[in-house]
Amino acid sequence: HPSNLQMEGSSGLKRANCRAKGGAPGFKVAILGAAGGIGQPLAMLMKMNPLVSVLHLYDVVNAPGVTADVSHMDTGAVVRGFLGQPQLENALAGMDLVIIPAGVPRKPGMTRDDLFKINAGIVKTLCEGIAKCCPHAIVNLISNPVNSTVPIAAEVFKKAGTFDPKRLLGVTTLDVVRANTFVAEVLGVDPREVSVPVVGGHAGVTILPLLSQVKPPCSFTPEEINILTDRIQNGGTEVVEAKAGTGSATLSMAYAAAKFADACLRGLRGDAGIVECSFVTSQVVTELPFFATKVRLGRTGAEEIFPLGPLNEYERVGLEKAKKELAVSIEKGTSFIRK
Ligand code: NAI
Repeated sequence: HPSNLQMEGSSGLKRANCRAKGGAPGFKVAILGAAGGIGQPLAMLMKMNPLVSVLHLYDVVNAPGVTADVSHMDTGAVVRGFLGQPQLENALAGMDLVIIPAGVPRKPGMTRDDLFKINAGIVKTLCEGIAKCCPHAIVNLISNPVNSTVPIAAEVFKKAGTFDPKRLLGVTTLDVVRANTFVAEVLGVDPREVSVPVVGGHAGVTILPLLSQVKPPCSFTPEEINILTDRIQNGGTEVVEAKAGTGSATLSMAYAAAKFADACLRGLRGDAGIVECSFVTSQVVTELPFFATKVRLGRTGAEEIFPLGPLNEYERVGLEKAKKELAVSIEKGTSFIRK
């Protein structure tokens, strides 16, 4: 009974002059994979975002429970739950922003690329739904390996004739969040005062923190640079190992995803000067078809893509390494759909 599967946290008693469904000003946001380790705290954080008027929570399991729970928060967004593939299209219809943390996470000893086999198919299916039901939505893709799932999404959208490179954004915010935290720790300052650009991609050596461009300006010893770069590149593995087989980063990731989604929504609203790092389609940054770099978010998505800026020798060497691995991961994603 598909009608039983679509849930709205409500007693059913509503006065006629009640707030129309989704009538409050704001944006409509869907989370696909909303019952997962990232999805649940992300659902909570998006329910707390005053820019969200409607929040759709989709998953193949446990969506009713998460929906009932989150819907009791006394914030503005109307929450609706959607369970299983037959409900995907209803979950997506009319959305302004779709956030995708669906898929399996890493266990100790796994690389993000080891997730490809399972997550590639999940991302393909979800993006086919987006192309059909909300082709103009901004997409925030979290499912790993991001370096391959973003190219998969691009190919799905191209095939459907809906591809707009400005609207497809791979979420690399957690790398920036970690970089800010770890750099602040070394400098002995508040992480909120630190801004570290992280470019390249979202896996191992493709994660390229530009420590020469940290704001406020500061300098590091070669030893600090080595240790910081290594910790930022392997921050995910640090969490995977500490969780000892129960998953990867979920809370810090939900925080990072909520921060990035909020930036996208402020951009959609027309706020000026919203700049975040993201893994996007672009041949202007390097010769690769996708690259993470600073982008300016506006009413139509990533409206401006910034070049990498001046790199020091250490970063130039890192860039070459990153590009080599990225080229392979991008090709893997692209050929998954083209083959
Ligand atoms: P999880 O296993 O706790 O949750 C994943 C959720 O996706 C589950 O609720 C599952 O039912 C759902 N799901 C599976 N197939 C689905 C489908 N076809 N449609 C809708 N939902 C589906 O995993 P967790 O920890 O939440 O991680 C999710 C993904 O995020 C993983 O791929 C992980 O590698 C990635 N990740 C990305 C990061 C980034 O920086 N971009 C950081 C951390 C994790």
